[in-house]
Amino acid sequence: MKHVLVTGAAGFIGCNFVRHLLRQDRQCEVFSLDAMTYAGSGHNLAQLDEVHRHEFIQGNICDDLIVKRVLQEHQIDTVVHFAAESHVDRSIIDPGQFVKTNIVGTFNLLEACRAVWHGRSSVRFHHISTDEVFGSLHAQDPAFTETTPYDPSSPYSASKAASDHLVRAYARTYGLSATITNCSNNYGPYQFPEKLIPLIILNAIHGKPLPVYGDGRQVRDWLYVEDHCEAILRVLQHGKTGETYNIGGENQPTNIEIVRSICSLLDELHPQSPTTPHENLITYVTDRPGHDRRYAMNITKIRREIGWSPRHTLADGLRKTVQWYLAHLDWVAAIGAQGNYQQWVDKNYVQRGAPIEGKL
Ligand code: NAD
Ligand code: DAU
Repeated sequence: MKHVLVTGAAGFIGCNFVRHLLRQDRQCEVFSLDAMTYAGSGHNLAQLDEVHRHEFIQGNICDDLIVKRVLQEHQIDTVVHFAAESHVDRSIIDPGQFVKTNIVGTFNLLEACRAVWHGRSSVRFHHISTDEVFGSLHAQDPAFTETTPYDPSSPYSASKAASDHLVRAYARTYGLSATITNCSNNYGPYQFPEKLIPLIILNAIHGKPLPVYGDGRQVRDWLYVEDHCEAILRVLQHGKTGETYNIGGENQPTNIEIVRSICSLLDELHPQSPTTPHENLITYVTDRPGHDRRYAMNITKIRREIGWSPRHTLADGLRKTVQWYLAHLDWVAAIGAQGNYQQWVDKNYVQRGAPIEGKL
């Protein structure tokens, strides 16, 4: 692993991974490719260590000329593919972009690797996928394993499922040296504030309503982003090509428990908020269409074969995350100012969920 291409590197997990890789592997050179959509920001890649081993390239994974040129010019031997449209709510409102980036973009990247790598074995295409491809679990169902059949519910998860299938097909048909990881909900530094945890933190400190979809009893498995980055690097180093590994945080809180935990942390760490206790801001809103009830990841395979398990408990990770956002309000202002986030929230507030009467 000498020349690593990280797609989607200016987004949440990508930028955390670039930092982790530069710190942990002192030899490799890292090339970050990102189209800089609303979710990507130069602020996410500021103040990197080892900056002389990093280069940023602005470009779209759907652009085959750029992708091939980057692979050839920089003699890329490892691709870590994060670039995607990542938000389920946006996929419900505007699914077309998810098909373009997540399916066609991944196809384009695979085609470029096939053309440039010519079946070489000393290369790796690593694809980042999600637990959402497995669909929804009932309360008593066992956690998802690597062999759980795919059953996606949203345009987002369907597009991720399609891209996973393409990666597997390229491995089987063309012998592409590929691995896939399916991970659960990430949280931590640099997450765009459309996602539950940063949205709740930032709304709470500004005294805005905290929107909880439906009854708030949906269950997610929360993975601290640093733990995820460590797992990906271990799979790159020790994973077997052609294999898939599940990654999760080994916890299963309900959404309302997560929201309440954030409120308590803020009562302690940010008592100067306009509304305290912060729980008074919780607002139940109409549910997300097709909302999956429960996700849970069985991580036996990655623990047994790669020796990875999460280091952060949910309590530790949430505390670190709340502290990070409170200490980086300048980052929040900068990414808010650069993009169309607030306009999108205002325009789609009704679709995101109107308050349910009597449940405020
Ligand atoms: P994100 O939305 O924060 O970042 C996505 C990045 O991809 C952005 O920088 C964006 O500019 C870039 N991008 C989008 N379209 C592009 C294109 N056509 N060409 C090049 N760059 C493009 O997403 P994230 O949360 O960091 O997720 C990263 C990956 O991890 C995605 O593949 C997502 O499906 C997967 N994933 C995320 C989570 C999670 O909880 N966040 C969980 C499981 C899997
Ligand atoms: O499970 C992995 C997935 O996690 C990733 O594949 C996606 O890329 C990532 O965005 C995330 O998807 P979710 O839809 O689970 O993330 P989100 O933060 O939007 O929602 C988490 C849960 O919280 C979900 O059950 C919906 C709920 N929610 C979300 C928001 C934004 C609310 O109740 N209120 C909200 O305002």
